[in-house]
Amino acid sequence: MKKIIYLITLVTFLAPAIADDKANTGNKEAIEKFKYLGCMSCHSVKSAGIGIDASSKEESGSITPPDLSTVGKTRNSEWISNFLKKKEQIEGRSHPKIFKGDKAEREMISNWLASLKG
Ligand code: HEC
Repeated sequence: MKKIIYLITLVTFLAPAIADDKANTGNKEAIEKFKYLGCMSCHSVKSAGIGIDASSKEESGSITPPDLSTVGKTRNSEWISNFLKKKEQIEGRSHPKIFKGDKAEREMISNWLASLKG
């Protein structure tokens, strides 16, 4: 009986920790890609502790790039992925940046951004 109680306790405490760890690993990778692919030269994601990298600030025309902390409230990952491919537009405007990563990187970043709902 003691053994069973011990096991239940173990599972109760460990399961959320493992689930949490998984979520964080996914985010970490996506955040690394986001930085690596130069997104933070225009965008901040304040909710994830990402500020604009002023040292590599790129010209984005007359439109100020938005902070992406809550982009998942209005966009799903499919839309974001298409927008990055310039297959979606905002009021007739395409994304100013050519996406330099591969499909897997695009999907990883899109899924992560779509999960940001503030
Ligand atoms: C050269 C500057 C620049 C870079 C670099 C850049 N963006 Fe953007 N991004 C913009 C601008 C400007 C907008 C707003 C476009 C508009 O409203 O017409 C935008 C819009 C977006 C949106 C839509 C936001 C919304 O509110 O719907 C997403 C998502 C996005 N960018 C993701 C990314 C990702 C991911 C990267 C890196 C691969 C990236 N951006 C790199 C300038 C940039």
